[in-house]
Amino acid sequence: MISVGLLALDIKSTVEYYPREDTGQRVIDQRWHRGGNASNTSTVLSLLGHKSAFVGTVARSHELSFLEKDFKKYDINIDRAIVKADCSAPTSICIINQQNGSRTILHHNKDLPELSCEEFKQFPLDSGIKWIHFEGRPNTDQIVGMLQHVETYNKSLGVNQPRIVTSVEFEKKREFSPIETFPDYLFISKEHAQFHGLKSKEQAVEFFVSKIKPSASVICAWSEDGAIAITKDSSPVTSAIFPPPKVIDTLGAGDTFNAATISALSKGHSLKDSITYGCKIAGAKCGIEGFDKLS
Ligand code: ADP
Ligand code: FRU
Repeated sequence: MISVGLLALDIKSTVEYYPREDTGQRVIDQRWHRGGNASNTSTVLSLLGHKSAFVGTVARSHELSFLEKDFKKYDINIDRAIVKADCSAPTSICIINQQNGSRTILHHNKDLPELSCEEFKQFPLDSGIKWIHFEGRPNTDQIVGMLQHVETYNKSLGVNQPRIVTSVEFEKKREFSPIETFPDYLFISKEHAQFHGLKSKEQAVEFFVSKIKPSASVICAWSEDGAIAITKDSSPVTSAIFPPPKVIDTLGAGDTFNAATISALSKGHSLKDSITYGCKIAGAKCGIEGFDKLS
């Protein structure tokens, strides 16, 4: 399983209460985490027992040794990561409110170039790759090229050879792009749907299903309202959330949902069962700090 997208350093502070502007408080806990959507997704896929790899650009900065060690700790292959000199690692200051587990993210990406299609194509596609998940980042034209590259590879296969399944996630506030017509699975976040004026998960999938290719599916996680999925020729299926005993930390809940849903789909489970598993693992994640105890 390959996750393509962002690697960031998350500097995560847990606070007793959400800060008011121009005040000070001592934080309860502070730690560095390897973050970024694709990086988090690769972590959860590995914890769920998949052979996982991260592909993306990585800054040759002083944080790199921490990030590399952390990939190693989770047994995530980074042979296809492209190290870029003379730039800074993207960082997120993440505030976790101890009262409700909410996460507030202050993200900064100064000058790390996005992965180009040419860089992606440097690495051969082969039958060992089951699934490639792309984080929908600003380099949409490049991601379209990468998806076309995978499509060309799939078309070159014989009938009995397993094709590579693709998924793309749109999480941030981004405009529409032709990407939506390429992947087998399109993950839409609540934030992305709301940016397009959609008010519920039902509205979101009804809207995005018109943009995907005929055989594809749209999947949408909607925070405490669970998740929904649809294909062009079937009615939507839904899952409720699985609330943990206490919500501790929601940072990366969406990335966890995506990874767990992909894990279930890759094993041949139905859309309904896969999003239910996604909600189950994402709910468990919300009840713990980080991802470690998910496995
Ligand atoms: P994001 O991290 O992208 O903001 P969401 O907030 O939409 O992601 O959450 C993704 C999934 O995580 C939801 O579909 C749900 O299954 C699970 N989840 C989120 N918040 C909670 C919560 N408070 N309790 C249980 N599960 C949750
Ligand atoms: C969580 C996350 C963090 C990262 C931020 C980037 O979904 O991937 O790990 O710093 O979002 O926007």
